Amino acid sequence: MTNEKRFTPSRRQFLQGVAGAAAATVVIGRAGFPEFSAQAAGETLRALAADKGLLYGCATSKQALSTDQAYANLVGQQCGLLVPENELKWKYVEPQQGQFNFEPGDWLLNFAQSHQMAFRGHVLVWSEQLPAWFSSVTQQNAKDVMTNHITKIVSHYRGKMQSWDVVNEALGYRGNGGPLKDNPFLKLIGPDYIELAFHTAAAADPKPLLVYNETHLEYDIPDDQYRRDNLLKLLKQLVGNKVPIGALGIQSHLRTGNVPFSQQKYSDFLNRVSDMGLKIIISELDVSEKGPESSIPDRDNAVKNMVGSYLDTVLKNKSVIAVVTWGLAAKYTWISSYAPRADGQAVRPLPYDKDLQPTGALQALAAAFQQAPSR
Ligand code: G3I
Repeated sequence: MTNEKRFTPSRRQFLQGVAGAAAATVVIGRAGFPEFSAQAAGETLRALAADKGLLYGCATSKQALSTDQAYANLVGQQCGLLVPENELKWKYVEPQQGQFNFEPGDWLLNFAQSHQMAFRGHVLVWSEQLPAWFSSVTQQNAKDVMTNHITKIVSHYRGKMQSWDVVNEALGYRGNGGPLKDNPFLKLIGPDYIELAFHTAAAADPKPLLVYNETHLEYDIPDDQYRRDNLLKLLKQLVGNKVPIGALGIQSHLRTGNVPFSQQKYSDFLNRVSDMGLKIIISELDVSEKGPESSIPDRDNAVKNMVGSYLDTVLKNKSVIAVVTWGLAAKYTWISSYAPRADGQAVRPLPYDKDLQPTGALQALAAAFQQAPSR
């Protein structure tokens, strides 16, 4: 696999654009274009991560994998872990109360197993993508509804999951209510819904790592700092109360443009999480392009610099055990509809583009895995 077709910066541009350490791993490809040595040698992200004791994988859908053979081949080659992007969300897995549809999730589990990939569950308790019937849940039956949902799903996949996102996005935003998001679970059950969800999942399957998954934590801005502070308090409470949480999932929906990222503050934050005995999963990595760049090499450099700087910081912490991108190729990404580019060009948030060709994100991931300390 080469990068010549889609990404051909000059050697000088390349060496200037990539984080310094990454440039050290560059070799010059057959046609004179720079390539990462690992990619020239045909190594996959999955193998590069595994070399360091890390898991690399992606979230994707049954729809994409079952209808697009080239894409399915790429996922099978590059990923050591698979996450159902939507199929295990409440709305789809329990569309009518008490009636579960595991068919798409089972299809994805079978895909993962037949490609020797780990399988990661997303998501048991989240205030979005709830079914219409959920609006009739009352304070009287809410605990039963939630624990039944968790027990049924976790039991169905008992012994098969590497990890489960038990609770997703429970934190509030600065200037918008309290530390916890005002969601239906908080309203119906109260703040204890978080601990109850973890205990219920652990009772149904003791094997998977149980994860608290969160977004908007990454940047050196007051909004994210507020959420990092509240998250540390929440995790301290969960660990102190002997709640069976095994890991923090940090979604890592990154963006280019003028947004400050502090490697020092972020690694301090990660150290505080790992000092509590928790593992860390980078659970939904991708990049929205908010910068001024418009040519593909410039755009790829901006994405590469953001991902490189982020992963360089993150992977130094040996409690980080996995990196998951939210999609593998721009052909199938939520960003196309949720955060399209202002100029209408196709987005490039992931390791491969809309034509399944390599991007700057692929180079950043490959370099980050090569430079990561071994676990
Ligand atoms: O199910 C309908 C389908 O019947 C219909 O034909 C189709 C037409 O567009 O829409 C389908 O629903 C879409 C669903 O994804 C499944 O494809 C929804 O419109 C769409 O809004 C939904 O978006 C998902 C989003 O979560 C929902 O909030 C994205 O695919 C998914 O990538 C995104 O993932 C979330 C994580 O779960 C949590 N963290 C943030 C992340 C990005 O938003």
